[in-house]
Amino acid sequence: MKRALGVCYYPEHWPEEIWPEDAARMVEAGLSWVRIGEFAWSRMEPSPGDLQLDWLDRAIDVLGRTGLQVILGTPTATPPRWMADKHPDMFAVDKEARVRGFGSRRHYCFSHAGYRRESRRITEILAKRYGSNPHVTAWQTDNEYGCHDTVISYSDAARRAFQDWLAQKYQSTDALNRAWGNIFWSMEYDSFDQIGLPNLTVTEPNPSHDLAFRRFSSDQVVAFNREQAQIIRAHSDAPLIHNYMGRIVEFDHFEVGADLDIASWDSYPLGFLEDRIEGEDDHKRAYAQQGDPDFQAFHHDLYRAVGRGRWWIMEQQPGPVNWAPVNPAPLPGMARLWAWEAFAHGAEAVCYFRWRQAPFAQEQMHAGLLRPDSVAAPALAEAAQVAQELAAMPEAGCAAAPVALVFDYPSAWAWDVQRQGTGFDYFRLVFELYRGLRKLGLDVDILPPDTADLSAYKLVLAAGLLSLSDPLKAALATVGGTAIVGPRANSKTPELTIPDPLPPNLPGLSVTITRSETFRADMQRPLKSGGFIRHWLDHVETTAPVQEQTLSGDPVLIGDGQLRYLAAWPDEAALTRILTNICAEHRIETQPITGGLRIRRTDTHVFAFNYGLDAVTFRGETIPPAGVFWAPN
Ligand code: GAL
Repeated sequence: MKRALGVCYYPEHWPEEIWPEDAARMVEAGLSWVRIGEFAWSRMEPSPGDLQLDWLDRAIDVLGRTGLQVILGTPTATPPRWMADKHPDMFAVDKEARVRGFGSRRHYCFSHAGYRRESRRITEILAKRYGSNPHVTAWQTDNEYGCHDTVISYSDAARRAFQDWLAQKYQSTDALNRAWGNIFWSMEYDSFDQIGLPNLTVTEPNPSHDLAFRRFSSDQVVAFNREQAQIIRAHSDAPLIHNYMGRIVEFDHFEVGADLDIASWDSYPLGFLEDRIEGEDDHKRAYAQQGDPDFQAFHHDLYRAVGRGRWWIMEQQPGPVNWAPVNPAPLPGMARLWAWEAFAHGAEAVCYFRWRQAPFAQEQMHAGLLRPDSVAAPALAEAAQVAQELAAMPEAGCAAAPVALVFDYPSAWAWDVQRQGTGFDYFRLVFELYRGLRKLGLDVDILPPDTADLSAYKLVLAAGLLSLSDPLKAALATVGGTAIVGPRANSKTPELTIPDPLPPNLPGLSVTITRSETFRADMQRPLKSGGFIRHWLDHVETTAPVQEQTLSGDPVLIGDGQLRYLAAWPDEAALTRILTNICAEHRIETQPITGGLRIRRTDTHVFAFNYGLDAVTFRGETIPPAGVFWAPN
């Protein structure tokens, strides 16, 4: 697998005379890919039907002839102003019924039939014109589905489409009423037209209604993307990519990914640390200029699964961004470290965002590889260094990971709908388990919930899964060591009702959850062997051996066989002990690490990354802050 660097470029922002020099400087820096086009609709079609693509032809030509491979984006994340006149009701509507209007981006509702037609139309125009262009060697659909909270829309178009979706799914309102339990509070319907969206209700809507709407909203994203993918495929053999984001769970990425060839994501480690991660102030201060040491890796592993092995970074932070509460500069070396960490997790490409900082509009304070005056910004030299290092490094795949985590998007929606305690967040739960595994020096695979064969793993964690499908139960039985299920796993039906028999209903493990408790964020319960549990505790009846329990005797880790149930959310100390014991039991080699050191193996090399502010030692080598080390495996 060939690995390469790239950059995001906006030819429409700059005079045409400087395109050749920009392209030449990109090549000189060792960049191979350039992504263009994804926000340029108003220049592609300044008024309805008036196609102006000559400039794009020339831009692709200049970039391509200079030696760059072009990723062409469909521009549907930024419909031009005239679109609003043509389709005045195309906008998404927020939960409070306010229209999310023109003046920034992503101002469309996925359910609007007229906008869907426009999306297909512009996609077809671009696919026909550039489908066999030798310089266009990859496509990006739209841009960051879900960014700015745009998956869910409470528009009239969404309501009508939701009613159709429900009619197809349930066939009769009787079936729907039964599935949701609408007899409760006399919420029964006798026609699908009566069913509204789950907003503006007096108190909370029926959670089954809410979850159905989340499933529908995700399906709308999948359908929107599928239309573009099918159109492009009819005209081009180049791979199709979408650029996903950090900690966005509102649509099922595995389902979108199934229609594409490569998954990519946009990695802004410093922005995410401030904006998107729970954590103590000490942690955030210590990593303010490096980013959280596990957040990027988690998404690398997640999107490797979404891309079925093929994944990229489509946008890599190069310097300060503009959108987080505070926007520090990365420590010197981080723009290199982040790229190498991605490659160590199997990325095929890392593209920096963006080539030149824009002097105008919303992102004028967002760094690029060049300053607005075209002088090199600090990240350009780091990118060039990575390009040189890459050229000297043999191609490699990921090493086989001994442990895996199951990740399931509908579970994230279910527990958002029915949190039960403010601290219970699905992403956070899975991410903390991931961090615990990484701190033992382990490589981790993240897997979709329909993985059929888990026999390659000695340990699989399946936490917080709304419900375990029969195939997933069968797959867990194939784990070549231990599968740990829980907390809050298989605890509901897919409709978000309590199942009969009571959960977790695991084959061969006598555990019954009798009730569940949640705790204040500042309260935790001690365990007999040390550490605490927090946020969540399932009280259980069991006859199975109990391996961990609270001081007051509540079973926490139950079973000693292939399948075990974790009945609570462990803190770091408890989690480390549980994972260490189980790794010892299955002879999974661990290498506990401290501070900001993180390790990752490819099939040829071991890599070490220092996210910390102090130098660390690894294999006898001193790695400075922001340093990267590698050695043959
Ligand atoms: C991404 C987006 C880019 C740019 C960038 C700024 O979310 O795809 O267009 O806005 O953030 O950090």
